[in-house]
Amino acid sequence: MKNLFTPLLSFGFTLISATFAQAQVVTIPVETAHNALVLQSNVAKQLNAIYYGKKLSNAPEYSAIPDTYKQAEDYTGLYNAAYTAAGSRNLLEPAIAVTHADGNNSLDLRYVSHEVTKQGDDVSLLRIELKDPVYATNVTLYYKVYYKEDIIEQWSEIRNTEKGTITLQKFASANLNLKANSYWLRQYHGDWAREMQPEETQLTHGIKTLDTKLGTRINLFMPSVFMVSFDKPAGEDEGKVLYGGLEWSGNFKTDFEVDPQNNLRIISGINNYASPYELKSGESLTTPAFWYTMSDMGKGEASRNVQNWARDYKILDGKGQRLTLLNNWEATYFDFNETRLSGLLKDTKSLGVDLFLLDDGWFANKYPRNSDHTGLGDWEENRTKLPHGIASLDKEAQADGVKFGIWIEPEMVSPKSALYSKHPDWVIKQPQREEYYYRNQLVLDLTNTQVQDFVFHTIDSLFIKAPGLAYIKWDCNAVIYNAYSVHLKNKQSQFYVDYVNGLYKVLKRIRAKYPTVPMMLCSGGGGRVDYGALQYFTEYWPSDNTDPLERIFIQWEYSYFYPAIASSNHVTDWGKQPLKYRIDVAMMGKLGFDIVIDKLSAADRKFSQDAVKIYDGVKQIIWHGDQYRLADPRTGSVASVMYVDASKSSGVMFNYLVNSRYGEGSPTPFKLKGLDAVKRYKLQEINLYPGSKSGIDSERVYSGDFLMKIGFNPAVNTSRSSVIVQINEVK
Ligand code: DGJ
Repeated sequence: MKNLFTPLLSFGFTLISATFAQAQVVTIPVETAHNALVLQSNVAKQLNAIYYGKKLSNAPEYSAIPDTYKQAEDYTGLYNAAYTAAGSRNLLEPAIAVTHADGNNSLDLRYVSHEVTKQGDDVSLLRIELKDPVYATNVTLYYKVYYKEDIIEQWSEIRNTEKGTITLQKFASANLNLKANSYWLRQYHGDWAREMQPEETQLTHGIKTLDTKLGTRINLFMPSVFMVSFDKPAGEDEGKVLYGGLEWSGNFKTDFEVDPQNNLRIISGINNYASPYELKSGESLTTPAFWYTMSDMGKGEASRNVQNWARDYKILDGKGQRLTLLNNWEATYFDFNETRLSGLLKDTKSLGVDLFLLDDGWFANKYPRNSDHTGLGDWEENRTKLPHGIASLDKEAQADGVKFGIWIEPEMVSPKSALYSKHPDWVIKQPQREEYYYRNQLVLDLTNTQVQDFVFHTIDSLFIKAPGLAYIKWDCNAVIYNAYSVHLKNKQSQFYVDYVNGLYKVLKRIRAKYPTVPMMLCSGGGGRVDYGALQYFTEYWPSDNTDPLERIFIQWEYSYFYPAIASSNHVTDWGKQPLKYRIDVAMMGKLGFDIVIDKLSAADRKFSQDAVKIYDGVKQIIWHGDQYRLADPRTGSVASVMYVDASKSSGVMFNYLVNSRYGEGSPTPFKLKGLDAVKRYKLQEINLYPGSKSGIDSERVYSGDFLMKIGFNPAVNTSRSSVIVQINEVK
């Protein structure tokens, strides 16, 4: 791989820099495998983004790209700053707004220099220094480029080198400038059990904002991920589309502004709502990364870029293995004891999954956690339910030949808890107002280092007590009402930002001591997931809604942005579908069970045990392969998704009936994707319910060419509502 950046002022291979003194116009193409983002510092040293699209084969021609804004600027006043400052010549929504020590609200950023550092075969980092010619405010723009994956991460570092304190009124991570005839935004909204509901609309002139102000578990109503298609809504395999998202687990704001000249500016960053951020002299703020990718080949390719990038660079142990599990939440809720848990450990073994996950309810004595009204914060074992503690469960699990994992919700506190009585000042609440609860609980003040220590030691003590502890489900079930931190005193406007940084500090400490233990990022409602948090977690909980029919839609939308290996899918009693359908849907990710195994019929039990073995045989393809969407459940009565391994010799195709009205099903074949046209394949139905037979001829040999041009009909219908087909190369 070469030419990650092909600077048109080039001073070396791995470290390239240019300064204003050496040239008047500096063109900086930021190249990925297929695209280029071209930045240009003009004669006035204003840094503009003049192009983002397919890359050119002849790099010197980047400097010949006409700056269409420039041509129009003189009479429109619009321009395309790489990082748009407020209060000077910008007339639209800015990325950064600063109040200087003297009260002046203007900022004007000019190019000083840039340099590129190679961080590996695939990764480079471009730094661009900007400076205000009047005030001592400096900004460094960072562009981290993942060449193969066509992904750029962009963020900024804002430094105050004035003598006095400045206030950042707005401090977005990035802004993009895009040009098309029309723009189509696919955005998501949701609520508990209704996560990732898509809406796709044409952007009109003015500003459309996606944001959240919930403080924590911010995705409840809206995640930061989005797609923008250009000129028409992109299809799965055609059309130009941009994906983006903010790597931040707190309040975000993304503005989409279509200006009068039909340019689109996307500005994304931490939400400045209630958050003017002060920087004393010498202090700096680094914003979280905004990631984005563009594809000319539709939503499918863009999602595979993101999934590859996520597994290679963003998700903890993204290329590693995962543990299948039996969880007891919906099997017992708060009602269990050691005898019941011993039985569940045995069920874990007999089911054939790797781990038993003990959920909510195991802790607190003064206010025992027997319902969701009490106990959060008192993380010692409940003596009635677990007289021998988690140490003994850990040992018992080892003796039974399974692993042991535990649920915890460490950012939270119940008003009825010893922790709350002891440290009322650790709790986020308005001192003079009545408390207001979400799920009967409050949030701990992670801006406070003592609270950070408490949370770290809480997790640490679990590992000390139960050295075999192999998994943590980290839950988060409340938003932040009455945002106020005793600790921050008169710096309340830093609360929302410092809360998330406090959380990340704790997670960093945990990961320094326990680098690989798998942890699930969970939230009952909202699917708390973003690439800021996923660097500490191996997986996330997409939704409490595990009705498989609903999950097909929810998982479908998540899969545009997150790979299957990170999706914790549990088989539960939600929904009306048969057990086979429920297990098949949960297999499209990391399989878990949350059902009462000993109440299953003999046939269901046997089927579940066999399903785990079958899953073990195909899970590497699902976790690490390329995902292709074949039939969209929103436009037909069948959903079809396939995964293919890197060598294109093995694959799995999942097919589900999503509309059970008379005559619905798959009347025509689905064209498979991602296979090798010249390879030959056999297709075999797997995970059949005991006693049922497949009509699929597993001896027939197809060419990849045939399967991709003519297709294959999995024959889904009301009596075969879920069909999994394994695809194997015939050598
Ligand atoms: C919400 C989670 O989503 C559930 O799976 C369960 O862990 C409960 N919290 C426990 O309170």
